[in-house]
Amino acid sequence: MDPARRQRIKDSFNALEPHGEALMNRLFERLFSDHPEVRPLFPDDLGRLKLDLRASLASIVKSIDNFAALEQPLKKMGARHLAYGARPEHYPLLGATLLAAMDELAGGLWTDQLREDWAAAVGAISQIMLDGAAEAERFRAAG
Ligand code: HEM
Repeated sequence: MDPARRQRIKDSFNALEPHGEALMNRLFERLFSDHPEVRPLFPDDLGRLKLDLRASLASIVKSIDNFAALEQPLKKMGARHLAYGARPEHYPLLGATLLAAMDELAGGLWTDQLREDWAAAVGAISQIMLDGAAEAERFRAAG
């Protein structure tokens, strides 16, 4: 990701962060109405998860200029997601829903450029998590 893109991601995240709770609420509302098949993967009470996801996004954005440092933690997180039942085909659903929820919450501030920036970031994060999940699966199969 080039520096201008990273800066736009940081700025837009900081602008949205005061609305973080509303963003998480909207994300899961939309995820479950658009993709009801993933609802059973999640616990009934989403309180903890919403806080964790928000904190995780904040720390990713904070480290976005040092993406290499995120690789190991993201791979480990991807490996944990195997146990949650998250499959590769679920990642684009969550990514697209996150972008749609951001678009709604950011109102007039959201642009095609930001949509592209965030799609690239979420795509990169998802890919690293999936690499971590695939590695963990190979390790388990070999052991
Ligand atoms: C950009 C991709 C994603 C990020 C950043 C993310 C982040 C997180 C975080 C921070 C947690 C808290 C627990 C932990 O760290 O292990 C978590 C839990 C979880 N995630 Fe994800 N996640 C992503 C993708 C997905 C996808 C695609 C699914 C499936 C549709 C999913 C389903 C879950 C479930 C079921 C839990 C456990 C909830 C619980 O039992 O409390 N995640 N996720």
